[in-house]
Amino acid sequence: MTHAQAQDLVQAARDASERAYAPYSRFRVGAALLSESGAVFAGCNVENASYGLSMCAERVAVACALAAGERRFQALAIYADADEPAPPCGACRQVLGEFAADMPIYLAGRGGGWRELRLAALYPMPFGKTTLCPSEESGLGA
Ligand code: THU
Repeated sequence: MTHAQAQDLVQAARDASERAYAPYSRFRVGAALLSESGAVFAGCNVENASYGLSMCAERVAVACALAAGERRFQALAIYADADEPAPPCGACRQVLGEFAADMPIYLAGRGGGWRELRLAALYPMPFGKTTLCPSEESGLGA
């Protein structure tokens, strides 16, 4: 990933955060997932009056990408409309790990710039397809 590619991805995440539906927490998050084919899939958090049904931006982005036929990803940007960047929650780490064993994650907030982390560092021992079925190389076929 070049600096310019990372910047574009962060911008896409920021744009998505403006579409967040977050009337309860007022915490707006956008995510932009870059597929192996080079397409970008955006997601924002979508809250609900039944709070527990709220969806995180990252998992919305994953669902959009899967619905479009993409299953492999090279990078993710997350923008939080807050002073500090927000790391992905544990549930999102687990879901991201299903489709990317490791990838750079760019975390950005209102302060500008971004911080780069790796999914494998954020989520080092995932419960994965090989946990269920040790002989399987990849969980992407079914
Ligand atoms: N949120 C995300 O969109 N991604 C995360 O990884 C953590 C939390 C959202 C969910 C909820 O709408 C709001 O942030 C406050 O928790």
